[in-house]
Amino acid sequence: MSRHTVHTTINGSPHAVEVDTRRSLLDLLRDDVGLTGTQKGCDQGACGACTVHVDGRRVLSCLTLAAQVEGREVTTIEGVGSTDELHPVQQAFLDCDAFQCGACTAGQVMSAVALLEEDGWSTRDDVRELMSGNLCRCGAYPRIVDAVMSVRSAQEA
Ligand code: FES
Ligand code: FES
Repeated sequence: MSRHTVHTTINGSPHAVEVDTRRSLLDLLRDDVGLTGTQKGCDQGACGACTVHVDGRRVLSCLTLAAQVEGREVTTIEGVGSTDELHPVQQAFLDCDAFQCGACTAGQVMSAVALLEEDGWSTRDDVRELMSGNLCRCGAYPRIVDAVMSVRSAQEA
């Protein structure tokens, strides 16, 4: 078994973590760093529950090797807003009642936060298409789209 020390910044704090070279970023975050907000749904790239940002872009952490974030900036749901001051997307999810069981919510929020920084979209259908990798078994999709569109409208106001 080959091991490797990964140097990365997670939610603004530097980390040096020795991991098996086969370890996923998801397992590094949850098991080595103790950031359990990122959810493990399918662990095979099909559900989006594990979405985090690497250098500001959304990635599936279950399909990303820990070694791939060497020297890069990772943001997890713990780095988005705070209990005292929610991120506008988190507040919108609350205001729009955009979740039921919550299993998908961290990934949905991370995907939405990054989407709102991306160009080339404007409609509800665009949100559905561009967040189609984030599954919700509870079927909260209409309200999730409501939440994303409400933040976009506020940004444009
Ligand atoms: S846990 Fe990564 S896509 Fe499902
Ligand atoms: S709120 Fe339950 S899976 Fe989305």
